[in-house]
Amino acid sequence: MAAIEMKHIVKKYGDGFPAVNDVSIDVKDGEFMILVGPSGCGKSTLLRMIVGLEDITSGDMVVGGDRVNDKAPRERNLAMVFQNYALYPHLTVYENIAFPLRLSKQFSEKEIDEKVRQASELLELDEHLERRPANLSGGQRQRVAMGRAIVRQAEAFLFDEPLSNLDAKLRGQMRTEISRLQRRLGITTVYVTHDQTEAMTLGDRVAVLKRGILQQLATPRELYEHPNNLFVAGFIGSPPMNFLPATVEGETVSLPFGKVSIPPEKARLAQGKGLLIAGIRPEHFDDAAVVEPHRLEHGSTFRAKVDVTEWLGNEAYAYIPIDLPAEIQGQLTDLERELDMEALRPQLVVSLDAASRIGEGEEAEIFVDARKMHLFDPESQENLTVGL
Ligand SMILES: Nc1ncnc2c1ncn2[C@@H]1O[C@H](COP(=O)(O)OP(=O)(O)O)[C@@H](O)[C@H]1O
Ligand SMILES: [Mg+2]
Repeated sequence: MAAIEMKHIVKKYGDGFPAVNDVSIDVKDGEFMILVGPSGCGKSTLLRMIVGLEDITSGDMVVGGDRVNDKAPRERNLAMVFQNYALYPHLTVYENIAFPLRLSKQFSEKEIDEKVRQASELLELDEHLERRPANLSGGQRQRVAMGRAIVRQAEAFLFDEPLSNLDAKLRGQMRTEISRLQRRLGITTVYVTHDQTEAMTLGDRVAVLKRGILQQLATPRELYEHPNNLFVAGFIGSPPMNFLPATVEGETVSLPFGKVSIPPEKARLAQGKGLLIAGIRPEHFDDAAVVEPHRLEHGSTFRAKVDVTEWLGNEAYAYIPIDLPAEIQGQLTDLERELDMEALRPQLVVSLDAASRIGEGEEAEIFVDARKMHLFDPESQENLTVGL
């Protein structure tokens, strides 16, 4: 196992466009690192440069302390783990796992048997060793692919969107499985996905990329609670953070639905900045009628007409149409394009306690906890209140 250090990595394809632009990421030994971002942001290119399938234009790729820029994929001893297509259908599970060992011609039959059985025990494949891949579930096949990487004693596992072709339920199961195995094996892992849920649930840390540029490298919790900029704030979280036009005077923020107070340390950072974008997550709103009194003290309430509600049993969402000034609307439309999201009609998404009885088309009293509000500069898109 090994740490992987990417230092100022740049990749320019033939047309000169930097698909990966000065990215530095340090993956610690044994760490589960996620590369996430919308389609085309350079995730696969970065992963392929780690394994050696793509030349590096500039920067240093360091694996286990060695600079590997000029090393062939084989010499890097990293394992790309593919899900379906890389298993040999005519070989048993045993022979699929043994394959790289036989190929290397370095091991006796006894050594091969030992290694395969060790991997199989670790991956709970013992009872499947004589079966063929076609008869296995998706999860079992994934484990066979990992088994092949384990017997090779690969320095790290690299996954490129391994779950993207699966249906939602299977994807959830496989996610748990990969997570459990990675913890058990403790093997350094770099995992590419465009799915923020996978990023949040699997990663020790997550690197968020936009158009080849690293936006933020942090734990899932830090990304969620302290996004550096509008892009990260909009990408992480589902349903996404609400963005609203805001102006700050003293400790009062004017929002489309009314004025709310924010903590003085936040207000100070936003003074004299003119029109800003406020970011408030759905769960920092609620139906005022069911909010406990002690929580009410920490926020404000406003009246709004609820357009649509969605009740999911354990929680509910209410949608409230809002008007946005043209300049903010333009910014948010650009952001939606960058995030690969559908451009929606401007609306607030409000999470409601399951006990709420607000119905569609009703006017309701909505609570907002303004302590958790982020304030973004519309020009630089930076979070002015990051860390607070
Ligand atoms: N072989 C290639 N030649 C030229 N451009 C490429 C090539 N592969 C990828 N690109 C471009 O590089 C950018 C990043 O691509 P990619 O790494 O595949 O993104 P992701 O995996 O995040 O979807 C895209 O703009 C893509 O069009
Ligand atoms: Mg890709």
